[in-house]
Amino acid sequence: MAFQILVLNGPNLNMLGTREPEVYGTDTLDDILADLRAVAAERGAELRDTQSNSEGSLIDSLQHARGWADGVIFNPGAYTHTSIALRDAISASGLPVVETHLSNVHAREEFRHTSVLSAVCLGVVGGFGRHSYFAALDALVRHLEG
Ligand code: DQA
Repeated sequence: MAFQILVLNGPNLNMLGTREPEVYGTDTLDDILADLRAVAAERGAELRDTQSNSEGSLIDSLQHARGWADGVIFNPGAYTHTSIALRDAISASGLPVVETHLSNVHAREEFRHTSVLSAVCLGVVGGFGRHSYFAALDALVRHLEG
């Protein structure tokens, strides 16, 4: 049975490709997801993806994932730095969640240096542009394989 993985993207990540390309690159989210899905298939994993700009929808996705997913790759966008509600949703899911960022948040503005989510995540990957998602997938699959 293939591992079932949710790839969850938060606010403004639907703008990838045109959003601050010097920070986030020129790939669209769909470009990244298409390549990620191909790599996942080689690794025996199936991806479902969701993007939302709304905190409540992201919480709904995490609650729903509890019923079907083995793990989550999650780029929470700016909610990383603010959302106790998402932190609680990650904890409640009981799922291994990899907090994933395109940029190196520690090399940016001070308000991005704090994540209220990292402590309840399996691990954190960031700073590698689109490759952050592939590193997160690799680490998550290895974790699930034990
Ligand atoms: C981000 C980093 C966040 O600080 C920012 O608000 C984002 C994207 C990243 O992928 O680098 O929206 O999560």
